[in-house]
Amino acid sequence: MSNHPRNCAINLQTPQFQFKMKEETDVLFPNRDVSIAVIKYCKQHSVPLPKHILDHVDLTNGEFADKAEMMVSPLQAQYLIWTARTFGAKKILEIGCFTGFSALAFAEALKDVEGAKIITTDIDPETCKVARQAFKDAGVDNFVTLLEAPALDSGYVDYFNAVMDLKLLRKGGILIGDNVLRLGLVAEIEKNPNKEDKDSVSRVQYLRPFNELVAKDPRVEALILPVFDGLALVRVL
Ligand SMILES: C[S@@+](CC[C@H](N)C(=O)[O-])C[C@H]1O[C@@H](n2cnc3c(N)ncnc32)[C@H](O)[C@@H]1O
Repeated sequence: MSNHPRNCAINLQTPQFQFKMKEETDVLFPNRDVSIAVIKYCKQHSVPLPKHILDHVDLTNGEFADKAEMMVSPLQAQYLIWTARTFGAKKILEIGCFTGFSALAFAEALKDVEGAKIITTDIDPETCKVARQAFKDAGVDNFVTLLEAPALDSGYVDYFNAVMDLKLLRKGGILIGDNVLRLGLVAEIEKNPNKEDKDSVSRVQYLRPFNELVAKDPRVEALILPVFDGLALVRVL
């Protein structure tokens, strides 16, 4: 048996191969400064966001300072572009457009796809107006439609059931649930300093049933990642 790890049949009990599993409970980066540097590094080395999208983020930060945190983060928008292209998406339904940042990212991913269609929804007339103008300015309003109307009001479980029952997703299609960990509260409330955030705590009762449903539903395969504010990736089988 060779001692080279790549050429051997590894017996984890053999003394020279007592590998220790990486603890998933470890905090990945030692402090906030390192975390900020790492995120910046990731953004710089990932599929870029075009200037018009970055300008739109600045505009939203300026005009909707009190609500701008609702936008996905820039790295998350990069992730959405990469994912939409990787899955070969042609049609995208988004619930919750806000000023259109994530929809612009999806549009960037699909702009060269023949027959592409993006439908996004929101109930806030003020932000819908900004989003519509942004789609027009970006020249994507020919395939991005904003519906100013409420989607189902009852939360992620009903969205998931509607998508599945109406067969809106093809086999291999993907549903992305954002904020499914809600500041970590979904997994742990008592030891979580965010338990003082009553709005976030109130959402736990809607998110836990969704996470449990997608984990068990035989029609899909789910992966919840502790990135951003918790991302549920749900692929139709
Ligand atoms: C977190 S923000 C979306 C952010 C957006 N995806 C982005 O990255 O810029 C959620 C949005 O959902 C909208 N919303 C809330 N209830 C809704 C409903 N029933 N139907 C459609 N949109 C809704 C809110 O007005 C808000 O703009």
